[in-house]
Amino acid sequence: MSYQQEYQASIEDPQAFWADKAKLVSWYKEPENILSVDENGIHRWFADGEMNTCYMALDYHIENGRGDQLALIYDSPVTDQKKTFTYTQLRDEVALCAGMLKQYGVEKGDRVILYLPMIPEAVIAMLACARLGAIHSVVFGGFAPPELAVRLDDATPKVVLTASCGIEITRVIEYKPLVDEAIRLASHKPQTCIVYQRPQASAAMQAGRDIDWQEALQSAQPADCVPVKGTDLLYILYTSGTTGKPKGVVRENGGHAVALKYSMDAIYDMQPGEVFWAASDVGWVVGHSYIVYAPLLHGCTTVLYEGKPIMTPDAGAFWRVISEYNVKALFTAPTAFRAIKKEDPEGKLAAKYDLSCLKTIFAAGERLDPPTYDWLCDTFKVPVLDHWWQTETGWAIAANMHGLESMPVKPGSSTVPVPGFKIAILDDKGKQLDANTQGYISIELPLPPSCLTSIWGDVERFKKSYLETYPGYFVTGDGGYFDEDGYLFIMGRVDDVINVAGHRLSTGEMEEVLGRHPMVAECAVIGRYDDLKGQMPMGFVVLKNTDDDSPDNAQIVSELISLVRQEIGAVAAFKEALIVARLPKTRSGKILRKTLRCIADGEPYTVPSTIDDPASLDEIKAQLGK
Ligand code: COA
Ligand code: AMP
Repeated sequence: MSYQQEYQASIEDPQAFWADKAKLVSWYKEPENILSVDENGIHRWFADGEMNTCYMALDYHIENGRGDQLALIYDSPVTDQKKTFTYTQLRDEVALCAGMLKQYGVEKGDRVILYLPMIPEAVIAMLACARLGAIHSVVFGGFAPPELAVRLDDATPKVVLTASCGIEITRVIEYKPLVDEAIRLASHKPQTCIVYQRPQASAAMQAGRDIDWQEALQSAQPADCVPVKGTDLLYILYTSGTTGKPKGVVRENGGHAVALKYSMDAIYDMQPGEVFWAASDVGWVVGHSYIVYAPLLHGCTTVLYEGKPIMTPDAGAFWRVISEYNVKALFTAPTAFRAIKKEDPEGKLAAKYDLSCLKTIFAAGERLDPPTYDWLCDTFKVPVLDHWWQTETGWAIAANMHGLESMPVKPGSSTVPVPGFKIAILDDKGKQLDANTQGYISIELPLPPSCLTSIWGDVERFKKSYLETYPGYFVTGDGGYFDEDGYLFIMGRVDDVINVAGHRLSTGEMEEVLGRHPMVAECAVIGRYDDLKGQMPMGFVVLKNTDDDSPDNAQIVSELISLVRQEIGAVAAFKEALIVARLPKTRSGKILRKTLRCIADGEPYTVPSTIDDPASLDEIKAQLGK
């Protein structure tokens, strides 16, 4: 079927379309109620279907002859380790891990927080939670204890799963002291903390609360899959919003399984048995969807890579993995390719490997900039496809539907709406805009399966953040436009969210942290252009009146940088702050962040007529040498 036919079918009769796609996964009881509206007025998919995501991802394939096929390949250049799991082996490990969780009281609907590096136990634990019908919440290892504490208080998990350490290239980062500190900070105290001891670091254990993972497995019995409803939650994944409090995006079992299974074929052109590699981290949505769930739901082999695109050991690392494991499709963030290109612009390291297995390169997480696109096309001679999505959706909103029909690529565009997503470009009054006019990218309701149906524990925040701005639409927070051929161009966030090395961060949250320093009177954080990471945060800080005993500016800047690292984490990559006399504001007191960004990036801008103190810009320009 052509893309157009498929897309039309999804929009004209979403229920029939998704009822059909739901047949592609194996339910215990097939859903009859395809789309319903709940007591909060929110659309829900497959409410009466009964299933288990872990069954669909593992046991089903074993029952259907894939038991001896590889399900998971773990490749860790940072520990010099490689390990493979067939579907049967992975199912057995998952069932045992589920049994271990059960021993510590985890039942259907309970939350389990995972603070784990990129080791097989992370994948095993996610699937083990799914097996029990428990709800996992994975927290990325680059977040600091206060961030983990916020998530502990919000998700109130019964159990925390962690490891003694993560490894960042050659640095061993001890995770357990971070978890201890987070539990100390949090009001909610989990009953049990299960710790996977890695040889690179030994975690100190707290009697009565901490359990050794490997020892606990010895007394565990394999657990069976617990049936859940299509609308029961599979996971909560926290993501940055515009304020300090992250949003707990919830993902339902049924819609998630159906959408991801469909995407593997329709978007990624993958067939069961083939090898798919998402070079991301299980702490991000890309890792949830395309390292763990989608490849397994589709009967593919997935790769878990504990390394970086460069320096582990060199910029040929990705190409080594691809040729070694016969990877058909690679999916990563453009920043990874920029890092590789910088080290190996002529692709000499890539030329060392037989990459004939690689058929497609997919990019997401940030816009695929045309120079990186051109470099990838010239170097690898395979289709290079950008696609746009968010934690909120769990899969692509716009893509080149490679498995249906490959459409010509327009560099800078993420191509066309994915079936199920009725995208509209709206102005600030909610009026639909014509082609080539930039506006707020919104999605007409109902959202297709897999998209969030609430923010954990706060449906009002969900409605306020996403649904109330334009009734009948979900606002994505991104701005952009359609061209005359219906190609979508994403132009970046229209809120206080920035994207640093494919990681989504909140400048509002960084401002809150800076504002806690005793010397800071007020501040603004913007995302300035960075040729490697896409954007880097930059702070502009006004100090309180100083006296002779005050530390000098350089010391304050270094304290501010440490503060963000301690409060949010290394992942924030906050390395630059400028002390200024005044911040540019409108007469009503609104900080002109966009103007600050334009100045920092050397882009043209017009000084708003409402500016209160135009001279405030001169000092900033002088400090930035612009
Ligand atoms: N645990 C602890 N610390 C972590 C971490 C983890 N899991 N992941 C990152 N960090 C730390 C890094 O060590 C770094 O610390 P530093 O400031 O002390 O050097 C900091 O967080 C920032 O990390 P990162 O943004 O990854 O920058 P980097 O310079 O280490 O690497 C890239 C840059 C481009 C190589 C890397 O970001 C990358 O591979 N990105 C693409 C893939 C990806 O993850 N995309 C996400 C969604 S698809
Ligand atoms: P996350 O929720 O972490 O996946 O981040 C989602 C945000 O990343 C989106 O709202 C966009 O701003 C950005 N993003 C993701 N993919 C793309 C893309 N292909 N092009 C442009 N921006 C993207």
